[in-house]
Amino acid sequence: GKVAVLMGGLSAEREVSLQGGQAVLAALVRRGVDAHGVDAGQDVLSLLQQEEYDRVFIMLHGRGGEDGVIQGALESIGMPYTGSGVAGSALGMDKYRCKLLWQGLGLPTADFIMLESEQDIERAESLGFPLMIKPSHEGSSIGMAKVESRQELKAAWQQAGGYDVDVMAEKWVTGSEYTASILDDQVLPLIRIETPHTFYDYDAKYQADSTGYYCPCGLDSDQEIALKGLAEKAFRAVGAKGWGRVDIMLDAEANPYLLEVNTVPGMTSHSLVPMAARAEGIDFDELVWRILSASMV
Ligand code: DAL
Ligand code: MG
Repeated sequence: GKVAVLMGGLSAEREVSLQGGQAVLAALVRRGVDAHGVDAGQDVLSLLQQEEYDRVFIMLHGRGGEDGVIQGALESIGMPYTGSGVAGSALGMDKYRCKLLWQGLGLPTADFIMLESEQDIERAESLGFPLMIKPSHEGSSIGMAKVESRQELKAAWQQAGGYDVDVMAEKWVTGSEYTASILDDQVLPLIRIETPHTFYDYDAKYQADSTGYYCPCGLDSDQEIALKGLAEKAFRAVGAKGWGRVDIMLDAEANPYLLEVNTVPGMTSHSLVPMAARAEGIDFDELVWRILSASMV
């Protein structure tokens, strides 16, 4: 059938989406799929119908593309698509409610609160500095800041508020960041991320050569198995499916803290899911093919 690779869109992660989308499109074409790139705009549904597409490969990140909106729109016209459904996508895009859900299930995640009113500043402070301030519905670390004082907290809240009405404060975890890539029913080898930046920010993710990616990740195999199991539980808990990535911190005593789920992870040349797949002997084209195939069941 004819496949549309949906990319671009209007979110803050547009550029990342275009890069990944082009890479996915090229891989599908190499595989002999009748695939075409479609920049997600207002008339995307009628375009998909008029041009008689059979299936959509969603390579949109952020709001409007990764949050259930496009998924619901595609459902409404009976168009199959890759990855998570409406509810899984919506929860995956909402760091705050995702953490509430994990907490309810007893899955480990750093303490956090939603910043809504002035009183929440004190509540946030009681978690203890440093804190991480995050827009709840954003990706690629956009709008995030580490804060060490009330003054910095207020400034970071205001800045994050430029991206999202929902801003949360999360207790800072000192340690290392790991990521678990999920492909259908398989958790791929973990990657450990090291950056000289304060945290794994936008520049460290897409531009800096100073970011180190380690796969094998350096954990002993029992630890890696346990962390993979946690990632899988966290992924299933939000109702995500098909493929995705779960980001986790390990503190100095190797206690895990779930950060977030990405239901449309990056697929750029710097991206993590392709790296983990490669470590498992799955090249980029095969990875893309499997993600598409998982949407056909
Ligand atoms: N939000 C970016 C695309 C990622 O998770 O890879
Ligand atoms: Mg994300």
